[in-house]
Amino acid sequence: MALTVQEKDRMVADILRLKKERRAIILSHNYQRGELQDIADFTGDSLGLTQQAAKTDARVIVFCGVHFMAETAAVMNPDKLVLIPDPEAGCSLAAMISADSLRRWKAEHPGAVVVTYINCTAEVKAESDYICTSTNALKIIESIPPDREILFAPDQFLGTYLMKKTGRTMHIWPGYCHAHQKVRTDRIRRLKEAHPRAQFLMHPECGCLTSCMPLADRVVSTEGIIKAARESTAREFIIGTEVGILHRLQKENPDKKFYPATEEAFCEFMKLNDLEKVLWSLEDLEHKVVVPPETARRARRAIERMLEISDPGAYIQKAGSGPPAD
Ligand code: 13P
Repeated sequence: MALTVQEKDRMVADILRLKKERRAIILSHNYQRGELQDIADFTGDSLGLTQQAAKTDARVIVFCGVHFMAETAAVMNPDKLVLIPDPEAGCSLAAMISADSLRRWKAEHPGAVVVTYINCTAEVKAESDYICTSTNALKIIESIPPDREILFAPDQFLGTYLMKKTGRTMHIWPGYCHAHQKVRTDRIRRLKEAHPRAQFLMHPECGCLTSCMPLADRVVSTEGIIKAARESTAREFIIGTEVGILHRLQKENPDKKFYPATEEAFCEFMKLNDLEKVLWSLEDLEHKVVVPPETARRARRAIERMLEISDPGAYIQKAGSGPPAD
């Protein structure tokens, strides 16, 4: 049932009061409902959220995103309470690779370097040498000596993009995001015809990557899309990613026009979190996201390597997070 304006205002006031009492921070991904992006201390992409989680001194982190994102925050903060408002908020892409299947794949390629997209469980991160996000994946791949074999999981479209950009051959896991799968080339062509002056900003998870890449002005992460729209002199944009990002794009650029590549690029898992559940989360200190210490230690190593390559010197590495041995 939709909330009245008064109910919504009261709920926001309660959330802000409890957030202070609990010494909590609210982090939100760019695909969350607008009402959550608006109350968050930080809204951003997977890399920005990981960086915020790594440096916060809050006691409690309420993570408005999907489970693997909250888990990443928990991995980076073994001494803090990390909460997810709806524990059912999963990720179809992260569900496409398990730690067991990754271990079997590694056994078939002894000595290969494992680079895993952040959309995966902590257990899969623990089996990886490097984590990457769409912001820094190119930098991570380029940091690996050219003679090393690379296993890239689980997003096949980001993997294909990286092979095209680097000219490097990698073994790629056949995973995909169900929402980005809905972005189609024929629709992009029609939108470009209807709006010939619009720039096409595209996320590398898009299922039409190979045929759409030549049509795109930029292929970037969600925060890359926000930045490109802000900095561009264009007035119109076709947005090839999950539709939740349109809230921030429109809010930050009220005089620009944004056309979703398709309204079907909708992640129902991302939308499971809402204001009411954030309030309950702060009231009851639920639902706790806990990662077993040994899994967290190994996953943290792969994430720390990413943070160091992504923004050298900005993140203080903890012991044991140096590059993997040959
Ligand atoms: P970014 O926000 O890092 O671009 O990732 C999008 C995504 O995969 C969310 O699941």
